[in-house]
Amino acid sequence: MLLKGKVALITGAGRGIGRVISLALAGEGARVIVNDYIEENAKSVAEEIKAAGGEAESVQCNVANFEETTNMIKAILKNNPVDILINNAGITRDNLLVRMKESDWDDVLSVNLKSMFNCTQSVAKSMMKQRYGRIINIASIVGLIGNEGQANYAASKSGIIGFSKTVARELATRGVTVNVIAPGFIQTAMTDKLSDEAREKLFASIPMKRLGTPEDIAPLVVFLCSDKAGYITGQVINVDGGIAM
Ligand code: NAI
Repeated sequence: MLLKGKVALITGAGRGIGRVISLALAGEGARVIVNDYIEENAKSVAEEIKAAGGEAESVQCNVANFEETTNMIKAILKNNPVDILINNAGITRDNLLVRMKESDWDDVLSVNLKSMFNCTQSVAKSMMKQRYGRIINIASIVGLIGNEGQANYAASKSGIIGFSKTVARELATRGVTVNVIAPGFIQTAMTDKLSDEAREKLFASIPMKRLGTPEDIAPLVVFLCSDKAGYITGQVINVDGGIAM
């Protein structure tokens, strides 16, 4: 087991990519803290892990809210050190720039980018003290190449990359690595919303001619969290079927 004895906090883990990452980390022996905005989903993933023989608990919190998030992390740190942080929570509010509402911009930037600051700042202090940590931030290839109708989402995901490289430099001498995974188009509730036309256009842009699955992402997360990846930091790794090569 690669992660025996480690404690991992995963945000937005009540479904989709975060859920599968949680199951994979628990499968490698980590004790998993499943966060989601939707309490019953977080609970059900924690139950699923326990039913499979793993260790898990759930915690409801809106990670876009600074005060709520710092309180959540304080409460977690009272009982456990956090060795692994996966900043995964994210939303879309797509529209062409000229039609985009201010609230669509603000909501996406708050959930996708401000949450990174909210979670990482509190956890990083404790990781620095213990001189060990793994932080993995989930961006998107849209943050690298852009996508029509996603100016807000692309800005948030590019922001994650600059944020992560900076924090990676700040924490590099403390045994804490910070890396970014940039998924392509992954089959989850987020992409189920796409129209048939958008889906066809999408397929044409994917060299592998298929959507990815959360199971395509989770093994890389496990590796980056393990001791084997101790000399990898500040990297952006695309898992995208070749779109952004
Ligand atoms: P999803 O919509 O299936 O799951 C996102 C989860 O985050 C949900 O359980 C939701 O309740 C939770 N969440 C949303 N706002 C939250 C908040 N403020 N506080 C706590 N939890 C919150 O999405 P999916 O596809 O699993 O995406 C996960 C991450 O991967 C996101 O950051 C997304 O941007 C990113 N991503 C997804 C891609 C895809 O094609 N599905 C592609 C590239 C990146």
